[in-house]
Amino acid sequence: MKTIASLDLGTSKIVALIAEIDSYGDMHVIGIGEVPSKGIEKGQITRFDSAVGSILRAIKEAQEMAGVKPNSVNLGISSPILKSQNEKDTINISPQPVEIDEAQIDRIIERTTTRAREEGYEIISAIPRKFILDDQEGVLDPVGLLGSKLTAEVHLVKVGISLLRNIEKAVTSSGLNIAGKYPSIMASAEAVLTQEEKEEGSLLLDIGAGLTDFILFMEGSPILTGTIPMGGNSITKDIAHFMKITTEQAERIKVEQGFALSDLVNDSEKIKIKPRGEDKETMVSKKSLSEVIQIRLEEIADSVLGYINAQGINMSTINAGLVLTGGSSKLAGIKEFFERYMDLPTRIGNPTGIIGLKERVQNPSYATAVGLLKLKSRVVYGYPFSYQNVENPMDKGKVKLANWLDKIKSFFREVL
Ligand SMILES: Nc1ncnc2c1ncn2[C@@H]1O[C@H](COP(=O)(O)OP(=O)(O)OP(=O)(O)O)[C@@H](O)[C@H]1O
Ligand SMILES: [Mg+2]
Repeated sequence: MKTIASLDLGTSKIVALIAEIDSYGDMHVIGIGEVPSKGIEKGQITRFDSAVGSILRAIKEAQEMAGVKPNSVNLGISSPILKSQNEKDTINISPQPVEIDEAQIDRIIERTTTRAREEGYEIISAIPRKFILDDQEGVLDPVGLLGSKLTAEVHLVKVGISLLRNIEKAVTSSGLNIAGKYPSIMASAEAVLTQEEKEEGSLLLDIGAGLTDFILFMEGSPILTGTIPMGGNSITKDIAHFMKITTEQAERIKVEQGFALSDLVNDSEKIKIKPRGEDKETMVSKKSLSEVIQIRLEEIADSVLGYINAQGINMSTINAGLVLTGGSSKLAGIKEFFERYMDLPTRIGNPTGIIGLKERVQNPSYATAVGLLKLKSRVVYGYPFSYQNVENPMDKGKVKLANWLDKIKSFFREVL
């Protein structure tokens, strides 16, 4: 049986998962390591030794549970220094229609990545969104079809290069090889979105502690990917500030009594707090707590909407609606808040499609870690989600081979 592992370096916690893939291609999670995150914040290394220590502890915990040691991991990348763009390119293949093969698609990807290259950034993902073969639009996978001119639109995600190198250094210093690196939100999407949602148009928000990652799917593939430097910690800090209480107290109150939509909270409901520097506890209204939470959520929602508007995307094309995941999606009333604020049907996304330790991993906080296991064998239009190391031809060969294996595997899965 094949063993795979994933590593999610969150602001609040580090999660390492180890899974086995059986002969049917089903994934069994056999090891979980979760430790509080030290030396990592908003996707970046803030203190090297602490980060390595946390990674080592998470891996050790997962390894002890699984009874096997992972050699390499799929790594999630999330950072405010992350951005996406779509590039279109056309190649003329031959005057007479000939069979399209993968080399031609590689060429288009190569050309779009070259064009998207930017100093200080590295492209970590390149996904062909759609193809036009001569005048035929809407081609999902042109391989094997006949044509003389091929156009593709490619969705590219890039991240700050030194941020990336520091993360890689921390992971490799923990004795692990990096099998693949993927935008964290693509992993979360893999864990919580259905194929139908991706095709009909859906927006996914992974609201964590330090960051809110978002991805917009249209016609089955991503069209917009990004990160906002706010999350559950921002809400907690706001509560601490307005109520003059400790962060610890604010976090507890948020989780136990918080509600995301203030006009649904009864005016008469009160909660006990103990302000800093005061000996006695006092009562505040639950509604005022809710107002503080709501203001920050509006700011997060507005930022995401700003990115969508800037792309000229009409919200009414997001037919399948909004899916919320990440730890902060457990906040009471958050579904109701977003449903109203974004005017989209909304659901909370729990990771699915895994066997083993379900009760622990079927939790929105685990969306990225679970998705990272699934991305390994994920193919979009015949291409892997992550187009690794565009500059390195050796790695490209590997991607191609993996791609074929995946195709064969998914073929057998369909047949069975
Ligand atoms: N029941 C709950 N109600 C409200 N908030 C919650 C609840 N449970 C967890 N959270 C919040 O979820 C956040 C942690 O989420 P998550 O584990 O997804 O973050 P992370 O992956 O460590 O961080 P990031 O992705 O932002 O770097 C914290 O801010 C925490 O307060
Ligand atoms: Mg996270």
